[in-house]
Amino acid sequence: MFTAALVQRDLTGTSSVLPLDLFEAIKTLKQELNAVILAHYYQDPDIQDIADYIGDSLGLSRQAASTDADVIVFAGVHFMAETAKILNPDKQVLLPDLAAGCSLADTCPPEAFAAFKAAHPNHLVISYVNCSAAIKAMSDIICTSANAVEIVRQIPEDKPIIFAPDRNLGRYVMAQTGRNLVLWQGACIVHETFSEKKIVQLKIAYPEAEVIAHPECEPSVLRHASYVGSTTALLKYCQQSSASAFIVATEPGIIHQMQKQASHKRFIPAPPVNSCACNECPYMRLNTLEKLFWAMKNRTPEITLPKELRSSALKPIQRMLEMSAV
Ligand code: 13P
Ligand code: SF4
Repeated sequence: MFTAALVQRDLTGTSSVLPLDLFEAIKTLKQELNAVILAHYYQDPDIQDIADYIGDSLGLSRQAASTDADVIVFAGVHFMAETAKILNPDKQVLLPDLAAGCSLADTCPPEAFAAFKAAHPNHLVISYVNCSAAIKAMSDIICTSANAVEIVRQIPEDKPIIFAPDRNLGRYVMAQTGRNLVLWQGACIVHETFSEKKIVQLKIAYPEAEVIAHPECEPSVLRHASYVGSTTALLKYCQQSSASAFIVATEPGIIHQMQKQASHKRFIPAPPVNSCACNECPYMRLNTLEKLFWAMKNRTPEITLPKELRSSALKPIQRMLEMSAV
């Protein structure tokens, strides 16, 4: 049982502390608010276990676009909750910790990106969903790691493209499509941290294991991978592959679902360069079950967006949803 203390005051001002079963309390609040809990695979396992839907950025955007709940509780990072709000201006979108940002999104400040765009006139701008609403508003099409290749392939060959903000995903898309993209030089602190040397050592120690990797990883890591894909794609691959073990080069939160879906297989988190837990996303891990409960109870922190920014950011997201297969 996951517990938290609920401090209550009676009319005389006397306070008492009640232990709470967080799972039960969240379930009750979900009914009271007509809320849906959407969680990314990088969330703590207990949050994944209480979510109504767990997915990658594309799946979460689709769920956000189709939900009939009144309140969306987003267990993920800020740009994901912001995307849900852009798609649902009339719904309340709660993020358990507003400080849950994204190092990759932070590498692309709007003023600098506007200047970059101006330096490349006539270019189509395709932005990875891991960016702020301001960057989305300056983009023609949004993509995720699940559909970036598919979307770039649909653009006429003679149309020059700016791809932002992740240079590693951009380089991966270039290799897959043979297209030359103008890349914004952003990267994610989590996916840049994997050590090629330690991965090679693990491959030698576990010759039966396949390396699987998220396209945000450096090319030096991707070249060791038998399979590269979004978090959902990696999860599916582990189920379908005949391999009995996998070295997983992405945030290790996903291993919770991998183990649930293929408990007879072994999943080894790819190690970071240092002996730290730097392969865990420090932003994703700011959310906790307890913060999720309080966000629902107090209906805050809430994502809000100016109307104009929201409608400019909506168009490229809608284009993405139209251009990617179900
Ligand atoms: P997905 O597109 O696989 O959800 O990845 C999101 C992300 O933040 C990777 O770091
Ligand atoms: Fe951002 Fe990297 Fe965390 Fe994904 S893993 S949310 S890209 S900081």
